[in-house]
Amino acid sequence: MKFAVLGDIHGNIEALKAAYQAAVDAKAEKIFHLGDLGGYAPFVNEVVDFLIEHDISGVQGNYDEAVANDREHCGCKYEEPLQAEMAGLSFSWTKTNTTPESKEYMRSLPPEISFSAEGKRVKIFHASPRKNNLYWYEDRPEKFFIEMAEKADADIMIYGHTHKPYRKEINGRVFINAGSVGKPKDGDPRTCTTVVEITSDRVAVDFIRTVYDVEQVAAAIVANGLSAYFSEKLRAGS
Ligand SMILES: [Fe+2]
Repeated sequence: MKFAVLGDIHGNIEALKAAYQAAVDAKAEKIFHLGDLGGYAPFVNEVVDFLIEHDISGVQGNYDEAVANDREHCGCKYEEPLQAEMAGLSFSWTKTNTTPESKEYMRSLPPEISFSAEGKRVKIFHASPRKNNLYWYEDRPEKFFIEMAEKADADIMIYGHTHKPYRKEINGRVFINAGSVGKPKDGDPRTCTTVVEITSDRVAVDFIRTVYDVEQVAAAIVANGLSAYFSEKLRAGS
């Protein structure tokens, strides 16, 4: 079975279009998204419409849960005061500008999707099987990965939230962070399409990076009253 996973899109419709095309070109039989559909860039409603139109099913991210239920905070963690301030404004902007229909879609998203392929149990969630805003970086100790695998009760786990892609294998369990479509933080501004191919003897993962029109989105961020701080982040992939 070959499928594609689209991590944290965050209102970036141009990146989504490019990532989707890469999935189609890779001949993915099915495409999933990992939630966190709005924030930082302005095209949250366009992103939701695109996902519905292209039959891309997915899970609910912390940002979706917070926007759809009008929470005070998005549940994200910030490293510096400026980032926290800008992110707060972006969160308010997103709550105001997400349509009731898009919020309804976000509310309807499940916390996880499970299926099996070639006898392996696959589980997809936004951040971790425990919490939807836990930052599961590659350098967490092995013990943490094993605990999470037990909690998820799965052989292959696919998630995002940190915006930094990786593949790791421990004791035959495969851990895939699908990175981010619309707001990469690994220093590479290109969009990311994670293609997973499961056969009887292996799990192959390909992180396809595709160039898209970053400048168009960077300009739209400012034109919509969001901070140029996020345009800069998009250019840098940070
Ligand atoms: Fe997230």
